[in-house]
Amino acid sequence: MRIGILTGGGDCPGLNPVIRAVVRKAIQNGHEVVGFTEGWRGLLEKKYITLDLEAVSGILHRGGTILKTSRTNVYKIPDGETKIIANLKECGIDALVAIGGEDTLGVANKLAKAGVQVVGVPKTIDNDLNSTDYTFGFDTAVNIAMDAIDRLHTTAESHNRVMVVEVMGRHAGWIALHAGIAGGADVILIPEKPFKITEVCNLLKKRHSRGKSFSIVVVSEGAKWDTDDKDDDGSFVLQTMEKDSFGHVRLGGIGNLLANEIEKRTGFETRTTVLGHIQRGGSPTAYDRMLGTRFGVFAAELVEEKKWGMMAALKGTDIVAAPLADAVGELKTVDEELYKVAETFFG
Ligand code: F6P
Repeated sequence: MRIGILTGGGDCPGLNPVIRAVVRKAIQNGHEVVGFTEGWRGLLEKKYITLDLEAVSGILHRGGTILKTSRTNVYKIPDGETKIIANLKECGIDALVAIGGEDTLGVANKLAKAGVQVVGVPKTIDNDLNSTDYTFGFDTAVNIAMDAIDRLHTTAESHNRVMVVEVMGRHAGWIALHAGIAGGADVILIPEKPFKITEVCNLLKKRHSRGKSFSIVVVSEGAKWDTDDKDDDGSFVLQTMEKDSFGHVRLGGIGNLLANEIEKRTGFETRTTVLGHIQRGGSPTAYDRMLGTRFGVFAAELVEEKKWGMMAALKGTDIVAAPLADAVGELKTVDEELYKVAETFFG
């Protein structure tokens, strides 16, 4: 077989381990592999590179993706699906491995329904994809955010300040929750639980009234103010109104807004740190290299077994096959019980 691979959506530490693993396993199984560049755009423009053993040598520890990526939506392009099917034929591709999040795998799912021989590998630092317990990239992002929170503790303490740390997480607060608990945050705000600014300030005042002179607040970029809060309409805080081809607006800014309100209402000197894309850059952790490698080997096996429309998924400690259709239906959000664990340490 001639197998094509592509990486779509936001990049993520662990993509290169997946690419390496798919290629190594597929070649062992007697197949040849090519990589389409810049996600679905590469397939639409028939841009690809040969992925032989040499091409995937020395990439295990490297962040990003050697194939590059883009947020190209096949279904927003006139005759996109027809073009993809024709181009796969012209490039002699028998099977496709799509590595991506909700959007990329959503496209893969539709293509599978149209008869394309495609399997998926789930990816996102946000960890919000259904059907898999964890996605690679998440552990790296959490460790980067935790390290930042540790560092902010010492400067917060020296200056008697409140530090607001804004982390990624568009619709789900997994990064904020895990990094916040691991870093000992005093308040964690996530998209799943709209917050009231008065309650946030009360928690901080309570903490400072028991002798603490500094606090750490971790907030997801997608966190929302409660609509009951008279100051606010509960909408996302946007950096820009511009949307990508999957309809996502660029978020960012909640951290600053929150810091200003906290300082105004409590009198505590407050600063903001926005971690942004630092959370997505650099080397994957050992956990993410391992998970990416297992996903990649498994995806090559899915191709071998012709399990089209399926993706690799982590269930407990096992890698299993899950239908793409189940993974892209709705997002996996933080559950109430886990948030209660975090709340134990608020204030
Ligand atoms: O999808 C992962 C994610 O990291 C989100 O948390 C964030 O909103 C988005 O990507 C930002 O990506 P970009 O700036 O590359 O469009």
